[in-house]
Amino acid sequence: MVLAAGAGKRMRAGKNKQFLQVGNKPLLVHTLENFINDRACTNVLVVINEADEHLMREMLLEHSLLEHVQFVYGGAERQHSVYEGLKRCSDDSIVFIHDGARPFVKEDRIEELALRASESGAALLAVKVTDTIKQQGQSLKTLDRSTLWAAQTPQAFRHEVISRAHEWARTTNYLGTDDASLVEALGEPVEIVEGSYDNIKLTTPEDVEKAMAILQKRRGSVKK
Ligand code: CTP
Ligand code: MG
Repeated sequence: MVLAAGAGKRMRAGKNKQFLQVGNKPLLVHTLENFINDRACTNVLVVINEADEHLMREMLLEHSLLEHVQFVYGGAERQHSVYEGLKRCSDDSIVFIHDGARPFVKEDRIEELALRASESGAALLAVKVTDTIKQQGQSLKTLDRSTLWAAQTPQAFRHEVISRAHEWARTTNYLGTDDASLVEALGEPVEIVEGSYDNIKLTTPEDVEKAMAILQKRRGSVKK
C-alpha cells in the first residue's frame, strides 16, 4: 500500500508533491516502480485523494504503471488513509505500508522486511539516530543515543496484526505517528530492520535537492 492521499502542504508546490518531477520522473512514479518491479509483491494499492484521481491516472498511464495498480480513496489523516487501504488487502497477506513520498527504498530491504514480518508479525525500516536528542521536561535530559532509532517506511505486517491494531486505534481514537506504533500500543512485538539514510521522505523543498543528489549518486554507481 503506497500512501499518496496527503496534500503536500510543506512542499509548497501548489499541487500534491507526489506529482513533483524528481530528475526524470515524478516522485510517485519512482516510489511505485520499487514495488511494481519487486517479484514478491503481488498487489499494489495506491491510496489517493479523489480530487487527484484524474491526474494520477494520466501520470501512471504515461509511465505504463496504471495497469499494475489499484486506487483507493484515503482519509483526512495518514492513519485514516491506511485504514481505508487495509480494507482492500487480503487476509492471508503480508501488508507493506509505504509513503509515496519515499522514492529510494531498496529491494533487499523489502525482502528482509517481508521475512521478519512473516516471522514476528511486524517489522519496520529504521536508521540509527546520529543527532544528540534532548528531552524537555522539568529538567532537560539527554537520551541515550545508542538506543534511539529514526523510523522510516516501509513497515510490514501480517494482515491480521495490523488490521487488529488499526481497529483498536479507531475504537479508542488513538492517533499514532506511524503504523508500527499502533502495534506497539497493543504490547505486541515489532522488529527493526536497519535501513539506509538515503531512504528519505520528501517533505520540504530542500528535500528535492537531497533527492537529486541521491539519484545522481545512484546513476554514477550503475555499471554501464
Ligand atoms: N498521506 C496520506 N493520507 C493523508 C496524509 C498523508 O496518504 N491523509 C500520505 C502522503 O501522501 C505521504 C505520506 O502519507 O506520501 C507521508 O505524509 P507527509 O509526508 O506528511 O505528506 P503530506 O501529508 O502530503 O504532506 P504535508 O503534511 O506537508 O501536507
Ligand atoms: Mg502530512
